[in-house]
Amino acid sequence: MSIQRVLTGITTSGTPHLGNYVGAVRPTVRASRQPDTENFYFLADYHALIKVGEPARVQRSTLEIAATWLACGLDPDRVTFYRQSDIPEIPELTWLLTCVTGKGLLNRAHAYKASVDKNTATGTEPDHGVTAGLFMYPVLMAADILMFNAHQVPVGRDQIQHIEMARDIASSFNHLYGEHFTLPEVVIEDHVATLPGLDGRKMSKSYDNTIPLFAPRDQLRRLIMGILTDSSAPGEPKSTEGSALFQLYQAFASAEETTALAKAYADGIAWGDAKQVLFERLDREIAPMRAVYDELIQNPAQIEKTLRTGAEKARSVAIPFTARLRHAVGLRALDSTTSAGKVAKQAKAALPSFKQYREQDGKFHFKLLDAQGELLLQSNGFTNPRDVAQSIAQLQRDGAAALDTLSAQLASRAETARVQVALEQLVLAREP
Ligand code: TRP
Repeated sequence: MSIQRVLTGITTSGTPHLGNYVGAVRPTVRASRQPDTENFYFLADYHALIKVGEPARVQRSTLEIAATWLACGLDPDRVTFYRQSDIPEIPELTWLLTCVTGKGLLNRAHAYKASVDKNTATGTEPDHGVTAGLFMYPVLMAADILMFNAHQVPVGRDQIQHIEMARDIASSFNHLYGEHFTLPEVVIEDHVATLPGLDGRKMSKSYDNTIPLFAPRDQLRRLIMGILTDSSAPGEPKSTEGSALFQLYQAFASAEETTALAKAYADGIAWGDAKQVLFERLDREIAPMRAVYDELIQNPAQIEKTLRTGAEKARSVAIPFTARLRHAVGLRALDSTTSAGKVAKQAKAALPSFKQYREQDGKFHFKLLDAQGELLLQSNGFTNPRDVAQSIAQLQRDGAAALDTLSAQLASRAETARVQVALEQLVLAREP
C-alpha cells in the first residue's frame, strides 16, 4: 500500500476541552502511530483570526493547543507538527485558489449561509456583520489541505462540506492548469461520539458548557459535580439513555467499565456517587498528561522551537510545490523559458542534499549538506562506490537511526537533531 498523507488542523480560538480531546486530539495522536501514514497536524491560527479579535487570546490558545497535542503524546519527530502562520506559502496558495473558486460555491457554505439566514430573519441587510474572512474560510482551508496533497482529512461532521469544497476547488485548478492536486477524502470517526457538555447539549465553546481538558483536579471535580442530571432519588433506577454523565464516562472507560456503570444505574446509584465514579475515571486518564501539560505551558520557548522545526519540515514541501504552482499559473521570471519539471527541480535546490565525490587518493566519499550548504555529515573514504550509494540509501530509509550503524564510516557529523530534520525534509519533499 502506498503511504497515505493524513492532515488536520485545530483552530486556535480557545482553551481545549474534553470534547476537543475525545473528538480531535486523542484520535490524531493514535493515528500518528499507524505505519504507512505521513501525518501533518497544525495549529490553524490564520483561521482563528476569522472569529477572534483579541491578539492575546490567539497567542494563548496557540500555546495551549500546541501543549495539549504534545502532552497527549504527539511525537513531533514522527509527524510534521506546525503552525499555519509559519508557512507563508499557505496564504499565497489561498490567492491562487481564490481565483478558480466560484463565488456561488462560497455562497452555499453552511457557516456563511447561517449568518445570512439569521440576518434575513431579523430583517437586517443579508451580509451584516459578515467579514470577507468568514466568506473565504473554505478557500483558506482548501489551501491548508492541498498544499500538502493530503489524501485523508479527519474532521468532525460540521467540516464535511469544507472538504467537499476543497475537492471542488482542486478539480477546478487541475482542470485549468494540469494535475497538480490530489483530491482529499474526508475521514469521519464514526465510533467517536459527540461529547455532551455540562447542560447535556453538545460540548461547545458557543454553549459555554465545556469542561477544560486540563482544569486542575479540584476544578475538574467541581465541574463534574455540576453536570445536569434528572431528579431521580438515590435507590431509584436510572436510565443511561440521554444521560450526559453516562456518555462522558463511556468516552473514557473500557467496555467492561461501561457495562458496570450501566448496571449501577439500573441498581439505583445516587447521582453524587455516579459523578464521583466519572471524576475518578477521567482523572485517571488525564492526570499524567496534565502534569506534562503544566510543565510545557511553563516553557513556551521550547514549544516555539518545536513548532519552528515543524515549520521547516512543512516548508520543505511547501516551497518547491509553490514554485511549481506559480509557474503553472504563469507567475514566471520574464526571461524564463524553463519547463515546469525544471522549475520543481530548481526549487529543490533549496533542500538538503547528498553529494558523492571522489578524492585524489581514488576513494569514494559522500556528504550531506543542509539547504544553506552547511556540512551535516561527511563520510570516510570507500573503495567501492556501491558502498557509498548503500550508505546514502540507508540514511534515506532509516533517518537518524542509521547514524549509529554508520558511525564508523563517518568522518564528521553535526548535531543529531539537525541531521534528522534534513533527512526528514528529503523524505517529505519527494513527489507525492
Ligand atoms: N476548520 C477546522 C475546524 O474548525 C480547522 C481547520 C483549518 C482544518 N484548516 C483545516 C481541519 C484543514 C482540517 C484540515 O475544525
